[in-house]
Amino acid sequence: MSRQTLRQLAERRGLLIGAACSPGTIEAEADYRRVLAREFNCIVAENGMKFMYLQPGFRQFDFSEARRLVDFARRHRMKLRGHTLVWHNQLPPWLKEGAWSRTQMLDILQEHIFTVAGHFRDELFAWDVVNEALADSGGWREDSPWYKGIGPEYLERAFRWAHEAAPDAQLFYNDYGMELAGAKSDACHRLLARLLRKGVPLHGVGFQFHLGVENRLDRRACIANIRRFNRLGLTASFTELDMGIKKPITPQGRQEQAHEYASRIRIALDAPDVSAVLFWGFTDRHSWTPAFTKGEYDEGLPFDRNCRPKPACHAIARALEE
Ligand code: XIL
Repeated sequence: MSRQTLRQLAERRGLLIGAACSPGTIEAEADYRRVLAREFNCIVAENGMKFMYLQPGFRQFDFSEARRLVDFARRHRMKLRGHTLVWHNQLPPWLKEGAWSRTQMLDILQEHIFTVAGHFRDELFAWDVVNEALADSGGWREDSPWYKGIGPEYLERAFRWAHEAAPDAQLFYNDYGMELAGAKSDACHRLLARLLRKGVPLHGVGFQFHLGVENRLDRRACIANIRRFNRLGLTASFTELDMGIKKPITPQGRQEQAHEYASRIRIALDAPDVSAVLFWGFTDRHSWTPAFTKGEYDEGLPFDRNCRPKPACHAIARALEE
């Protein structure tokens, strides 16, 4: 069967379509590498650009793994997204365990952002500058070392420093659980509006979309939510789309997944400004879903364990074609 690739179909719609991946797997598995390059025009490091990997020791930076991804993207004419400069997870022990003063935390943050965003300034078109700063209730995530060490001001600082270091990159705030209006999404909208009013360089909002297949998203409500962020002047992206199916998995579950995937792609196409859709992985062979859900969910991605397109993939293709 000669199927048009997701990449070809998305390009026709002016949409970036991407996947999280890892250079080790790209190098070790030929089918993974081939399908990734064929189906996507955008990639993001699933882990390799997080703080603990880029600055494993205090003021010791290691770009070697991340550079391998840069090379792959360049060779296949793919855009590369940066994920993530400021997050409460996957921080190195020296940072988590140190007794740093507020001034020292600001210095650490500034140096990390200047060094990392500066290093990749010609290679990344976008950065998730701040990831998951909000609690599900809509308040601050108070257990974040950045919040504890600096206070809410860390966000504004991070965006300003990222812009200084990489003036051409689109700078995103990224979070989960705000695909529909509600306490968290409303708080995020207020927060981003406030930052923009203060002249903070902020260009996009990333909706993670880690939502199992049972989360049928109401299309109108979801588009309305995206639209209010677009009205602030922000582009939107779906940054970590996946859709685990609750086990035991049946053919009917896979059909429901296909249906819901198509619906989410149509939401992206019909909202005023969704510029990129990235899956969190692309093959069920490598997915964080089983571990994250303690084995309850699996098969959340568009390609199966052999990197062959699933019903979900065909449904996504049809949605892109409509
Ligand atoms: C996850 C990775 O997929 C895992 O391999 C890792 O062990 C933990 O992080 N939100 C994010 C991503 O922004 O960075 C997370 O990635 C998934 C949730």
